[in-house]
Amino acid sequence: MTGGCGFIGSHTVVELQQQGYTVVIADNLSNSLASVVDNIEKISGQRPVFEQVDLSSRQACLQFFNIHSDADAVIHFAAAKAVGESVRIPLHYYRNNIDSLLNVLEGMEKSDCRTLVFSSSCTVYGQPKKLPVTEKTPRLAANCPYGNTKQIAEDILTDLVHAYRVKAAAKEAVGKPWKILALRYFNPIGAHPSGLIGELPNGVPGNLMPFITQTAAGIREKLMVFGNDYNTPDGTPIRDYIHVCDLAAAHVCALKHMEKGDFEGMDFFNIGTGCGYSVLDVIKSFERSTGCKLNYEITTRREGDIEQIWANAEKAEKILGWKASRTLDEMTRSAWKWQQNLQGKI
Ligand code: WQD
Repeated sequence: MTGGCGFIGSHTVVELQQQGYTVVIADNLSNSLASVVDNIEKISGQRPVFEQVDLSSRQACLQFFNIHSDADAVIHFAAAKAVGESVRIPLHYYRNNIDSLLNVLEGMEKSDCRTLVFSSSCTVYGQPKKLPVTEKTPRLAANCPYGNTKQIAEDILTDLVHAYRVKAAAKEAVGKPWKILALRYFNPIGAHPSGLIGELPNGVPGNLMPFITQTAAGIREKLMVFGNDYNTPDGTPIRDYIHVCDLAAAHVCALKHMEKGDFEGMDFFNIGTGCGYSVLDVIKSFERSTGCKLNYEITTRREGDIEQIWANAEKAEKILGWKASRTLDEMTRSAWKWQQNLQGKI
C-alpha cells in the first residue's frame, strides 16, 4: 500500500489487517508520521511492514518493488490532495502525483503484480451539471490541478489496460492481465472509533474537518467559511462527506471483487454516501455531536472550489456489495475524539 501512513491509508491498513490481509506500507511521510504505524498496531494487534520511500523517485520506487516483489495487489493512495494548495503549487502536484503513479505501475509490471486499487476522486467531475453524479457522468474540466492529476491518472490507467488487451488479442501479452478499480472518493472525514488514528494535516489544515476540530481545540482562532453566496439552500458549498472507516471498507470490497477472478480490465466506482451536506450543515453537526460552540466567520470563496457535488453510489453497492453506513454526526463526533486524543485529553 502506498501512502499507508496517511489519513485514508492508515484506516485502510487496519481494515485490511482485520480482514486477514498482510500489508506492506510505502510512504514518504510528507503528510503523515511514522508513529501512525505504532497506532495501527495498537488497534489491529499486527504491525505492518513500513518503508519510508519517495515514490516520485523512479529509482527508489523500483528498488522498493525489487525488495517487495511478491505483492498480490497494490492500493495506491500516495498523492498530494489539497484542492486549494494545488492551485498555488501546480508543478509539485503534477510532478508528485503523476511521477509516483508511473513509477508504481512500472514497479508492478516488473514484479508481475497486475491488481491495483487506485485512489481517484470526485474532483474528476469538476462541477457536474446534473446531480447526483454517477460513474457515467462526464468528467468536465477539473476545477483545480489536483483534480486534473486524477483525471490524467485515470487516463493513464485506461490506456495501460487497453494496451494489454491489444497485445493479448495478438497473443503477444506478457504476464497477467491488469485488474484496476479506480475508487472516486468524495469527502472523507472522521476518524477510527479508537481515537488512535485520524487526519493529521501538516501545518495549517486545507480541509474543512481538521480546521473545525483545531478551532474547537483552540489551536486556530476561528474557521473561515469560504463563501455563502453559492446557489445552494444556505449559500455554502455542498459536498458528500463520508466516514473514513466506510471509505476504508470500500477498499477491501474492491480487492475481494478482483480476487473473485472473473474481473479483468478497469472499472470506476463512486465511493460516497449519496447525501450532500453544506459547510454550515457540518458545523451544526459538529456543534450538536460534541457540544462545542464553533467560532467561524463567512469570508470570500476559495479558488478551485466547486459549488456542489454528491454521489450516486448504487454501482458500488450492486457490484462491490459496499454501502456507507455512518452518519454525519458520527463523522464529526469521531473527528473531535481524535483531536482530543491528539492533545492527550483522553
Ligand atoms: C470542503 C468544503 C470549502 C476549509 C476534498 C479533498 C480532495 C477530494 C475532494 C478526495 C469546501 C470549505 C474548507 C476551510 C471552508 N477528496 N472549507 N473553510 O475541497 O471538497 O476536497 O474532497 O480525493 O482530496 O481535499 O474539501 O475539506 O477542503 O473543503 O469553508 O477552512 O469546506 O470551501 O466548500 P474539498 P475541503
